[in-house]
Amino acid sequence: MKVLITGITGFAGSHLADYCLDRSGLDIYGIIRWRSRTENVEHLTDRVTLLECDLRDATSTREVVEEIRPDYIFHLAAQSFVPTSWRAPSESLVTNVVGQLNVFEAVRKIDHKCRIQIACSSEEYGMVTEDDLPIDEDTPLRPLSPYGVSKVGQDLLGYQYYMSYKMDIVRTRGFNHTGPRRAPVFVVSDFARQIVEIEKGLREPVIHVGNLDAMRDFTDVRDMARAYFLSLEKGKSGEVYNICSETSWRIGDMLDKLISLADAKIKIQQDPARLRPSDVPRLLGDCSKFRKDTGWAPTIPFETTLKDMLDYWRQR
Ligand code: GDD
Repeated sequence: MKVLITGITGFAGSHLADYCLDRSGLDIYGIIRWRSRTENVEHLTDRVTLLECDLRDATSTREVVEEIRPDYIFHLAAQSFVPTSWRAPSESLVTNVVGQLNVFEAVRKIDHKCRIQIACSSEEYGMVTEDDLPIDEDTPLRPLSPYGVSKVGQDLLGYQYYMSYKMDIVRTRGFNHTGPRRAPVFVVSDFARQIVEIEKGLREPVIHVGNLDAMRDFTDVRDMARAYFLSLEKGKSGEVYNICSETSWRIGDMLDKLISLADAKIKIQQDPARLRPSDVPRLLGDCSKFRKDTGWAPTIPFETTLKDMLDYWRQR
C-alpha cells in the first residue's frame, strides 16, 4: 500500500513516517519543498521516497499525486505556528487552505481510490466558554487567530469535498501535541530549550515566557502519529474527530513541572513580545467519538514527554 505524507519533514510528519516504517507492507512517500530543512527525516531518507513539490502550486501537486497514486494521504503540511499567522495572515491562509485544495483537486483527477486524512486543529474552537467544556465535535467553532480561521477553512473544505464528490476524507482535530523534534517556537519546546541553555550556563538563569494562564490539552506526538494512522485505518469517511488526552494543563503549571525536572535555579519573566492579540483561553477536549471508532487511547504520560523534551535539548 502506498502512503503519502505531506509535511513529512515537519514535526508530526516525521513521527508519522517513523510509525509507518515500523509497520510492514507500506511504501512511504513524502513531499518536500525546495530548501525545506530535512533534519527530522535524515534518519529515514533511505527508506522513504521524497518528492519535491510546493502544495501551493496546483500543477506540481497534481504531477506528484499522479506519479504516486497513493492509497492513503496524510495531509499534515501547513503553516502551524499561531503567532506567524498574525504576522503573515494571507500566507498562512494560502498555504493551509489553497495547499489543501490543490491536494483535493489532484486526487479528484486521478481515477484511484484514496483515503485522505486532514490535520485540522483544536484552535478552530477558539473562544470556548466554561459551559462548552469538555469540547466535543459539536462545540461551535469561534477561532481567535488567522491560523484558527485557516484550519476552519481546511476542515469545512474537507466536509464539502466529501459531500459534493464523495471523496473519502477523514478530518482530525488534533489538540496540542509535543515531543522530541518540536521546533523551539512552540511553548514546551521553547521552555525546555531555554532551561537546558540555563543548565549549560549558556544564558542567564531567567526564562522568558508569554501567557502562563492559558490551558492546553497536550498529547505526546508519538501517540498523535498513531492516532493519525488509525483515523484512516478505522475512521469513518466524512467524519470529524477530536484527538486529545482529555486533560488540560495550565501553561504556568507545565513550566513549574519542567523547572522541577531541571538541574538549575530559574527565575520566570514575562516578555510582552510573547503575548498574542488574542489567545485561546482553555482547551480541554473530549475524544470519546474517536476512541469508540478506532480504539485509540494515549499511552505516554505528559510527565514522560516533558522529560523527553529536556533530554532532547540536552543532547543537541
Ligand atoms: N509559543 C509560546 N511561547 N507559547 C507560549 C509562551 C511562549 O513563550 N508562553 C505562553 N505561551 C502560551 C501561548 O500563548 C498558548 O496559549 C500556549 O502557550 C501554547 O502555545 P503554542 O505552543 O505556541 O501552541 P498553540 O496552542 O498556539 O498551537 C498549537 O496547538 C494547536 C492545537 O491546539 C500548534 O501546534 C498548532 O499548530 C495546533 O494546531
